[in-house]
Amino acid sequence: MTTVATKDAIPDEAYKKMVLTLMDKQAGREVATAEVFGQCVLYAPTVDDKIRITRFQAEELKHFQLISRLMSDLGMDMDAYVKNRQRAGARFTGEEADTQIQDWIDATLFNFMIDRAATFQLSEYTRGSYLPLAKANEVILKEEEGHKSFGELCLEEMCKDPATRAEIQRRFPKWFVASMRIFGRAGTKGNEYCIEVGLKSRDSGDIAAAYVDSIRPVMAACGLAFPKREELPLELPPQIDLGVPAR
Ligand SMILES: [Fe+2]
Ligand SMILES: [Fe+2]
Repeated sequence: MTTVATKDAIPDEAYKKMVLTLMDKQAGREVATAEVFGQCVLYAPTVDDKIRITRFQAEELKHFQLISRLMSDLGMDMDAYVKNRQRAGARFTGEEADTQIQDWIDATLFNFMIDRAATFQLSEYTRGSYLPLAKANEVILKEEEGHKSFGELCLEEMCKDPATRAEIQRRFPKWFVASMRIFGRAGTKGNEYCIEVGLKSRDSGDIAAAYVDSIRPVMAACGLAFPKREELPLELPPQIDLGVPAR
């Protein structure tokens, strides 16, 4: 795989178009995550939690700025981008209602699944052939580690109470489905192209499977189960394992 060190070294229009597509998805989600964390602040149970969530929110907007700079280097009008609600924000599933937060359980499930899934792809980009994007995502991933640990911690804490755990289990499929949609369809032409030019090293089906693997131990510790494949309104790539070992 040849790496592309700067924007001037971009080999052709097809590569530029794909880099912009990847950055567009990421940038929209960074803003969307910041906006949802804004809702989460309302329900954070302690002042410390509110401060933490507010910090996460600022970090997401900083992530947006890092990607935004790279996009404007490639000629995108990023002021217009932020104003466009279909681009920035509303970008996880296309429906803002899907990420409506009503209490701290929703906030925790959002953090545990959506924020994590959105970031899971980024570890791919740190190994990708477009070095400006790879470097930006190295910085971003360090902060996302903190978001991830907090989501796990909150979930484990809440699941100690059986009634809360039952409610979390009831709401689990909704957030799980939304998180799976983030990975997009597996085995597409776009995926093939990304692998060919080194923008990704794996198909999105494999990335989605790795994401599910990463939450499985936490699910086991919490006593939670994944929904059944046939109950889901979307088709999961075959390599995804929905089993959870018994506690
Ligand atoms: Fe982020
Ligand atoms: Fe995050």
